[in-house]
Amino acid sequence: MEVHPSALDRALGPLHRWVWRDPHRRARKLLRFAETEAEGGRDISRAAELTPDPLLRRLYLRHAGDELRHAALFRTRARALLRSLPRAARVFEANWLAPGERGLDEVRIGADAPLLAFLHLSEKAAARRFALYRQMLAHDPGTRAVFDEVLHDEAFHMSYTGAQLARVASRRTGARLWQARLGRLWKGYLRAAAALASLLGAIFLTVQYFLLLPPFAILARRAQRKEPQGFSPCRPAGRLESQY
Ligand SMILES: [Fe+2]
Ligand SMILES: [Fe+2]
Repeated sequence: MEVHPSALDRALGPLHRWVWRDPHRRARKLLRFAETEAEGGRDISRAAELTPDPLLRRLYLRHAGDELRHAALFRTRARALLRSLPRAARVFEANWLAPGERGLDEVRIGADAPLLAFLHLSEKAAARRFALYRQMLAHDPGTRAVFDEVLHDEAFHMSYTGAQLARVASRRTGARLWQARLGRLWKGYLRAAAALASLLGAIFLTVQYFLLLPPFAILARRAQRKEPQGFSPCRPAGRLESQY
């Protein structure tokens, strides 16, 4: 199944190209993707343990194995990139703009229909993102090949979760998808709100630093001028009969 990037991501193409151009940032992002893939793999293994449906158990186990393999692919490529680069200071990763495959957040593992609906939407979003990143990486064939391989599996995850949701939820498929969509929107809002709060916090602290600190620095300098220069004369020696 061919997957294409979303219209919004296509419109933001130049920004994504900038994110992926820096090799240090690319390597850091791949390491972060590896973490999320491994986390997703663990959550789906848990779902395989809990489901009473034998077909879903088999599919979940294959899915979990794929996610763990993606984690290994991303990690290996990130290490190869980092080895070929000189050491660099921390780079800005722009994770809010170019996230990888999202973890399961707080979706309840145990009920198959809500889990399948959630997985279907997040696998679809991940597949579309990876299709875009693949396009942005014409200058790095090694990393592009990793995305090619991962994208193939994500397309399978997207289609099997959709087909199994239709089997498990039958007439409630649409409602389940809408529920999952609203849940994802809410989580997206919380992530954006947290990012905005952290940005505003940084701005306010910087403004406070420059507005509140200078008066104290001026007072300290004035007080310093009143202090005598050089060594201070020592106290006269006391009487030696007393201990005080
Ligand atoms: Fe994956
Ligand atoms: Fe996946």
